[in-house]
Amino acid sequence: MNLGAMLSGQRILITGASSGLGNHFARLAASCGAQVVIGARRTSRLEALAVELQALGAQQVTSIELDVACQASVTRAFATIAETGKPLDVLVNNAGIGHEGLALTQPLEQFDDIIATNLRGVWLVATEAARAWKAQGQGGSIINIASIQGERVMPGVAAYSASKAAVVHLTKSLALEWARHGIRVNAIAPGYISTEMTQAAWDTPQGAALIKRIPMQRLGTPQELDGALLLLATPASSWMTGSMITVDGGHLLSSL
Ligand SMILES: NC(=O)c1ccc[n+]([C@@H]2O[C@H](COP(=O)([O-])OP(=O)(O)OC[C@H]3O[C@@H](n4cnc5c(N)ncnc54)[C@H](OP(=O)(O)O)[C@@H]3O)[C@@H](O)[C@H]2O)c1
Repeated sequence: MNLGAMLSGQRILITGASSGLGNHFARLAASCGAQVVIGARRTSRLEALAVELQALGAQQVTSIELDVACQASVTRAFATIAETGKPLDVLVNNAGIGHEGLALTQPLEQFDDIIATNLRGVWLVATEAARAWKAQGQGGSIINIASIQGERVMPGVAAYSASKAAVVHLTKSLALEWARHGIRVNAIAPGYISTEMTQAAWDTPQGAALIKRIPMQRLGTPQELDGALLLLATPASSWMTGSMITVDGGHLLSSL
């Protein structure tokens, strides 16, 4: 079964495509021949990515300014998607933020930002996509990028962990509600991968010590999520919904 070929011609929206994992997912989808819609707030980065993808031979790339935490922005983005091509087939809810801070000192604004982006954002984009699919009488696949922090806890990331635990539960709830409409909702829970969000943390002595506690004793790469993403995006997973695939070098197996 060639999962990449199964994505060819599908239209896929990737939120948070201006850096990190989202940027990589956009390249992966384009390399498979998918029609790629890339969304984020930093549009100059999206435009640069769109140029690169087109140079690599991508069929159709649509770049959209999108703030997932803002309902008006999400509504505008879906209007643009409807005007610029065929309906979406796949949504990757990847946009996310992760301010660190101990609960007693973390500013409330940071807690609110994390929940607004990581949870409200997933809700807004998923419900907008599902409404469109239901109206068009077609199904689709939603992939929420959760985190192993949604399954385990550690000091300094309480708000982030709570937001990702909520994403895991939301994935299951939406899967249950929308299965009858042919809309599948699954999640990927990555372990630690070096991206803009996390790079600074790995370059510290504490970061190095944390890496040693991962059973495989190394960070993951964005490419190591490709198999899970392609499986969930394509009909290869046609009977999977409400599932979460953990990709973490064995980290969740460890109690540290
Ligand atoms: N890297 C890891 O180790 C790791 C592990 C587990 C889970 N994750 C999850 O993977 C996802 C991607 O993280 P990353 O590591 O690739 O981080 P990143 O490099 O910082 O990328 C985050 C992306 O989210 C976008 N974003 C943030 N707020 C947004 C908003 N309000 N509206 C639209 N886009 C927004 C950013 O774009 P703009 O700023 O341009 O809007 C950026 O493109 C996140 O959900 C993260 O929690 C990452």
